[in-house]
Amino acid sequence: MQAFRAAILRFSEDRRAVYEEDGLLVVGPDAGGRQVVRAVGAYAALGPNYPGLKVTEFPGRIVAPGFIDLHIHFPQLDVIGSPADGLLPWLENYTFPHEARFADATHARELAGFFCDELLRHGVTTALAFGTSHPSSVDALLAEAQRRGLRMIAGKVLQDRHSPDGVRDDTEESLVDTEALIRRWHGVDRLGYAITPRFAPSCTDAQLRGAGELAAKYPDVWIQSHVAENRDEVAWARQLFPQARSYLAVYEGFGLMRERAIYAHCIHIDDEDRRLMKATGAAAAVSPTSNLFLGSGFFDYEGAERIGFRYGLASDVGGGTSFSPFHTMLAAYYVAREGQTKPGLSLSPQHLWWQHTAGAAQALGLDGVIGNLSPGCEADFVVIDPKATPLLARKTSIATNLDELLFALIVLGDDRAIERAFIEGRA
Ligand code: GUN
Ligand code: ZN
Repeated sequence: MQAFRAAILRFSEDRRAVYEEDGLLVVGPDAGGRQVVRAVGAYAALGPNYPGLKVTEFPGRIVAPGFIDLHIHFPQLDVIGSPADGLLPWLENYTFPHEARFADATHARELAGFFCDELLRHGVTTALAFGTSHPSSVDALLAEAQRRGLRMIAGKVLQDRHSPDGVRDDTEESLVDTEALIRRWHGVDRLGYAITPRFAPSCTDAQLRGAGELAAKYPDVWIQSHVAENRDEVAWARQLFPQARSYLAVYEGFGLMRERAIYAHCIHIDDEDRRLMKATGAAAAVSPTSNLFLGSGFFDYEGAERIGFRYGLASDVGGGTSFSPFHTMLAAYYVAREGQTKPGLSLSPQHLWWQHTAGAAQALGLDGVIGNLSPGCEADFVVIDPKATPLLARKTSIATNLDELLFALIVLGDDRAIERAFIEGRA
């Protein structure tokens, strides 16, 4: 057992932040030997219960749950900041050529290591990630994540049509490869597999049907895809699948909507789609820096809350512009202010933070496992320095309540504020 003394941020069941100015986080093995939170609370109250326990002190620091990135593309590291007239030209001119390079396993290994280090540097301890269509890209990523103890859920991209040579896969082989990867990686250490149709326009009916069959055969495997990100993309999907009620309904028709299915974007959807999200237990990965960069549109927070489906935050690097959860939370604030709803919503800093931690865990079906610091949660946490930069120090020192403190971090914070990341109780 070990313990950490600092200010501690965590979340209650009703999504509110719980903040202990002088807190103690006690970490030790659970019945299965995994390092989890054993107790958390005020130092004054908890400390006496653990005489002789080694306590690591982080004076002036905030211990908070490790961030969860609900949607990111590891092969798009070098695609960040590539301008284009919207999603489809961006895919064609930048993304596909970069992803084609992952046929080379050495290249994949090199970027996988860099990618995992970059996540940790930004305080992200769990990610749901796309590979490329090359199965070896997933081997590279999951092996690097495993070495670092990261919780990584990843999948080989399925794209057997409307894709150039170098990234297009073969229908039959892509499904065989997917199943082999599930058997190789899913549930190994902290790793998971996600069946990954890129988006409906890049997959034939046969490939989507096969993906749905695998999703039924392996119910605790995740599913990840894109939907309703961009108006041209929506029009294309409607043309390719005229029989479906909506773009989102295409996925339902192939058995790809269920718990543990995460759909990036969900911007241009209607209430019937929102009810479908809710009824099936699927979740949205809201990717605001990407949506602003590519000019895709605005996630409708009011609609999501009104119907009540699950969602959480994601970087969507390389459409997204930053690995930093602080940047993503700030962009989510802008999106809610400017989104479809008029007048715009002012999301609270607590709710923004929840979306990138406990809320994202709930979207993955991993609430109570990650994304929070309540007893039983895996001991993944970050140590935040609220004085990491001169301006941040000024602003956090005059904060008079928790909302002001969290907003200062969201608006002014970046990787410099992440002093350390702990994975299962290890720095
Ligand atoms: N839709 C299909 N592929 C992609 C991708 O790689 N990034 C984004 N943002 N949208 C997509
Ligand atoms: Zn994406």
